Amino acid sequence: MTSINLQGKIAVVTGVSQGLGEALAKRLVQEGCQVIACDINEEGVKNVCKDLHGIEPYALDITDYSQCEKVAREVKNKYGHIDILVANAGILLSGDIQSLSSQMFQKVVNVNLVGYFNTVKAFAPMMLQQKSGSIIQINSKSGKVGSYKNGAYASSKFGGIGLTQSLALEFAEANVRVNSICPGNLLNSPLWTNSLFKQYAKNQHTTEAAIREKYINQVPLRRSCEYEDIENMMVFLASDLSSYMTGQAINVTGGQVMH
Ligand SMILES: NC(=O)c1ccc[n+]([C@@H]2O[C@H](COP(=O)([O-])OP(=O)(O)OC[C@H]3O[C@@H](n4cnc5c(N)ncnc54)[C@H](O)[C@@H]3O)[C@@H](O)[C@H]2O)c1
Repeated sequence: MTSINLQGKIAVVTGVSQGLGEALAKRLVQEGCQVIACDINEEGVKNVCKDLHGIEPYALDITDYSQCEKVAREVKNKYGHIDILVANAGILLSGDIQSLSSQMFQKVVNVNLVGYFNTVKAFAPMMLQQKSGSIIQINSKSGKVGSYKNGAYASSKFGGIGLTQSLALEFAEANVRVNSICPGNLLNSPLWTNSLFKQYAKNQHTTEAAIREKYINQVPLRRSCEYEDIENMMVFLASDLSSYMTGQAINVTGGQVMH
């Protein structure tokens, strides 16, 4: 019988200095993986890895392909292969069309979409060569439905699903699977508590408490998405339990999005 067994797997995760990426990387360590933890914030990712076994920090800006290639080369030299790639790093700049500059729009697309492309382009050749591997992109429910005054982010995430589906077709012959996870709102993550509640309260002309209530009320299961909800889906997609799944964008949204 197939089971979840990730012991000894080599996993690369991007965007690990805080938030969801930190939680996903630590869960992979708990599952027995050797984790290559990458982030543009070198100090932050070093801090996350401090005092932990089975995880190594790497400075990496995913918008710079040459940096992705360099880290991939180092990983290849050290470990020879990779089994799991979690493309998690992302940013969000919200605003209506008037307040969002073309530069802001490009920045979001550059990290969330071009960065995803760069990450896969650099790391996938090892998987294609060994004829196995699971690539997991952290997308969003905003990759499935438009997001109010949040056009840059939604555009970048919709594009990510197009890339996931296309790469799934391209890599299937080599037995490399590519899937996206579309989380709901992680209302207890630093993205929300340090930034989004403030941004949305400002551009929707209301209070932070009203924004929280509004977002909870949109969820049929009436709670925030939590890191563990996404970790569980990641572990499933990383393992052989999902060996017949590729090109999927899976909602983990408490029922908020159903297609
Ligand atoms: N927080 C949410 O509610 C939520 C919901 C759905 C999807 N997501 C997605 O989950 C992922 C993680 O989000 P989060 O809430 O943990 O965000 P976060 O801002 O807390 O963390 C993002 C991490 O990515 C890193 N990063 C940013 N730009 C980078 C770059 N160019 N190269 C490498 N690393 C870079 C940051 O330093 C940070 O460590 C993102 O892709 C986001 O779109 C988040």
